Amino acid sequence: MITTQPQGVTPPIRLLGVALLFSTFFLPALSVDRSNFKTCDQSSFCKRQRKLEPGSSPYRAVLGSAKLSADKLEIQLIDDKNQVSLLLEVFGLNGNMTRIKINEINPLKPRYEVPDVLLGTPIPANLQVTGQDDNTLELSLGGAEHKLLVTGTPFRLDILSGRDLVLSVNSRGLLHFERLRERKDTDTEKTDVPPEGDDGNPGEEEATKEEESKKVDEDEPGMWDETFKTHTDTKPNGPSSVGLDFSLPGFEHVYGIPEHADNLRLRTTESTDPYRLYNLDVFQYELYNTMALYGSVPLLLAHNVQRTLGIFWLNAAETWVDISSNTAGKTLLGKMFQYIHGGGETPQTDVRWMSESGIIDVFVLLGPTPHDVFKQYASLTGTQSLPPYFSLGYHQCRWNYNDEDDVRNVDAGFDEHDLPYDVIWLDIEHADGKRYFTWDPHKFPTPKDMLSNLKDKRRKMVAIVDPHIKIDSGYRIHNEIRSRGFYVKNKDGGDYEGWCWPGSAAYPDFTNPEMRAWWSSMFAYDQYEGSTENLFVWNDMNEPSVFNGPEVTMHKDAIHWGGWEHRDIHNLYGLYVQKATADGLIQRSGGKERPFVLTRAFFAGSQRYGAVWTGDNAAEWDHLKISIPMCLSLSLVGISFCGADVGGFFKNPETELLVRWYQAGAYQPFFRAHAHLDTPRREPWLHGDDNLKLIREVLQQRYALLPFWYTEFYRAWRDAEPVMRPLWVEFPTDVSTFAMDDQYMIGSALLVHPVTEANSRGVQIYLPGVGEVFYDVHSYQKYEAPQSFYLPVTSSSIPVYQRGGTIIPRKNRPRRSSDCMHDDPFTLHVALNLQGEARGELFIDDGHSFNYEQNEFLYREFNYSRGELKSSSLDPRGNFETSSWLERVIIIGASQPTSVTLSLLGGSETPLEFEYDAHTSVITVRKPGVNIAADFTISLR
Ligand SMILES: *[C@@H]1O[C@H](CO)[C@@H](O)[C@H](O)[C@H]1NC(C)=O
Ligand SMILES: *[C@@H]1O[C@H](CO)[C@@H](O)[C@H](O)[C@H]1NC(C)=O
Repeated sequence: MITTQPQGVTPPIRLLGVALLFSTFFLPALSVDRSNFKTCDQSSFCKRQRKLEPGSSPYRAVLGSAKLSADKLEIQLIDDKNQVSLLLEVFGLNGNMTRIKINEINPLKPRYEVPDVLLGTPIPANLQVTGQDDNTLELSLGGAEHKLLVTGTPFRLDILSGRDLVLSVNSRGLLHFERLRERKDTDTEKTDVPPEGDDGNPGEEEATKEEESKKVDEDEPGMWDETFKTHTDTKPNGPSSVGLDFSLPGFEHVYGIPEHADNLRLRTTESTDPYRLYNLDVFQYELYNTMALYGSVPLLLAHNVQRTLGIFWLNAAETWVDISSNTAGKTLLGKMFQYIHGGGETPQTDVRWMSESGIIDVFVLLGPTPHDVFKQYASLTGTQSLPPYFSLGYHQCRWNYNDEDDVRNVDAGFDEHDLPYDVIWLDIEHADGKRYFTWDPHKFPTPKDMLSNLKDKRRKMVAIVDPHIKIDSGYRIHNEIRSRGFYVKNKDGGDYEGWCWPGSAAYPDFTNPEMRAWWSSMFAYDQYEGSTENLFVWNDMNEPSVFNGPEVTMHKDAIHWGGWEHRDIHNLYGLYVQKATADGLIQRSGGKERPFVLTRAFFAGSQRYGAVWTGDNAAEWDHLKISIPMCLSLSLVGISFCGADVGGFFKNPETELLVRWYQAGAYQPFFRAHAHLDTPRREPWLHGDDNLKLIREVLQQRYALLPFWYTEFYRAWRDAEPVMRPLWVEFPTDVSTFAMDDQYMIGSALLVHPVTEANSRGVQIYLPGVGEVFYDVHSYQKYEAPQSFYLPVTSSSIPVYQRGGTIIPRKNRPRRSSDCMHDDPFTLHVALNLQGEARGELFIDDGHSFNYEQNEFLYREFNYSRGELKSSSLDPRGNFETSSWLERVIIIGASQPTSVTLSLLGGSETPLEFEYDAHTSVITVRKPGVNIAADFTISLR
């Protein structure tokens, strides 16, 4: 193995630290080294926050201090234990949302408020006081539907929809806000130092209280310095964490807050650690636990048969989320409202958020439908960017394709074996000594020729550009960043240095807008030598990964632009890297072309910049299985463009697993095979003819459905609809779907249940929906729903069902790449519901530019009703010329017609050829021949 290494010195593993490097190399055992990562107990703020017990909130809201403007309520909150006062701001927001902010009134210095995630200032809605008594203030939240109750002592907020209590804040009294303090000389005994009064004369009683509270506060180890393994984190202003609880009466199912390798439905964390949100490079991650992974989106969704709601906790610091399901300490407001339920105990979920620094800034998204919540969240953070068409094709990656010959041979292998693919990828070995933006002069001497060969086949390449920069005075990128002062600084003011792939490395400060602009400019064709317009980018290691840093990441006391500590911005770093890279790709084209950038780390809003994958998984069946809930969790929080490494990154998949992974991956949004440097080669043709045939079949199925995928992505961009979605999003009242991990929908049309078990002879399929019908997409067999049945499977089975009532556009001609299919004709698959109706959409544009924003697109609707299939425009602004025509219409679940005719608007009827299969009830209409942009009607009589 080592001989495949250029210098034979860099061990070919994704290592965590120098110490681990060699041991991992020799130990085949595959599991995370948990001791590298903190538990809640080892994270002093989490421990402090979690130690607080419910039921004794020291906070009261001073209702007399309330100030109400058109869209904002301000009230002082006082901690009766230490007299620290906070400011509560409640905002009415348009579209069934409210925003709750809590901050110190006069902090020692400003506390971090997350920038660049919200699209702008959310649109305000009127707040009005609708009632008041001694201890309560009642407000309407933008309209009569939603009410907010503010209770003075103890402080709490309750949100009602109609007469239902849907959410309470601080009802368990867990608001805990640590104020910033001056650091005392570490040599003095802190408890002996009398508290410094604020300017002026604090009363004696208050001073004593202050002193008392300081004693209590400062009793804890870890407040001023915190040591983990060999790293000490210094905290210039001491403890700074914030925490708050939310109660959700009537909710038993909560979702979201990725990224975790866990089930879709979140577990209760009473007997485990809370879910952790802290972007980390976790070597060989374990499944089914609450440990942090590469990305974080602090959005939690709750769903029951009546409603869906969301809690968006806008904080980029290390965050932990506790979930409990409790029936004790029920929240009731007595005479203020009547909570209507049929006796007995109402289930309730309690959620507690704890972040290390920043402020409390939380958006409550009130739905009431799942799609309302998606739109509400998207109105704050944006929708999935529309990917270039090619990026929905198949991606062939490994660490590493060794040189230009290797790339040429792999590329040729796809043609030789009749396999479509769009993109070949280069990992870190392509660059000259891991100096990104360069090419290894021996292995990749003529990158432009290589890219041009790919271009001739209408294919693309993706090369990795990581955010750690080799410290090397002969490296232009490093010199420029250093001389411009763009590196993150350590706490003492020097450039922060860490250990990563290139050895000693520094980290550009992506929070600095000037740094980002400079980084973007490096993707210009004359800056990034050897790059061409079919070269795209992959940002890995952007948590950021620091091999010798605490928890394999950056020290929290490192300093960013504006003087902010890394502690404040940590979870945002990866988003900025991808944003700056995507902006660079847009700029290199003069603003014309859509970028493609894959990222490993992410945050709320990352959907605007490209695709995400689930990181360094393993060639194990359980990893295949968990790719489904992992991507579903991401979809629920707005990140639709998600995939997992097909085949598994670490280890060598047995052939059956590899094939099953292709079958599953073809039905996930981002479809890329990837493999560790140490694994044997595994291109599709290396597993025997039978398996090659199976993989070819998978790739052809993927490519045939590209028009459908692309249309779904258009809807994601336009209407915030997740592409891949849990069944409950489509069937919100079917409780049996609420905890389902093994099947899901693509759009509202396809239900997918991949085979994820070894030696599988069958799978248990559940088809939801009262009065609905589904059709097996391969056999057209019809199933009435709801029903659950055992489906026997063979090695070629990919259980996929088209929902009755939908129309799916396909392109069925096998080609080399998606680009080659651009003008190919369409086939429509019309699956009738029990009323004999169906509806579908098709979005078309050039597939690569931003011209669709200038109305250069077609957005078509197909509507089948009473024996007529009508095609019309769904958006009259759209105007795009295409030579694609309609080659075939397949109508599933129909009875036999005597004639089929085509008519264009105002034209005469032309008879069409058709066949009817009585066994499957399928009509195949041949060659309507009409341009896909035309308004037409196909009539069956
Ligand atoms: C707001 O909620 C009401 C009912 O609770 C619903 O009818 C309406 O569609 C929602 N509006 C939005 C924009 O979500
Ligand atoms: C489909 O067409 C029928 C008949 O023209 C019409 O009644 C129905 O509203 C249409 N459905 C949709 C979803 O546009």
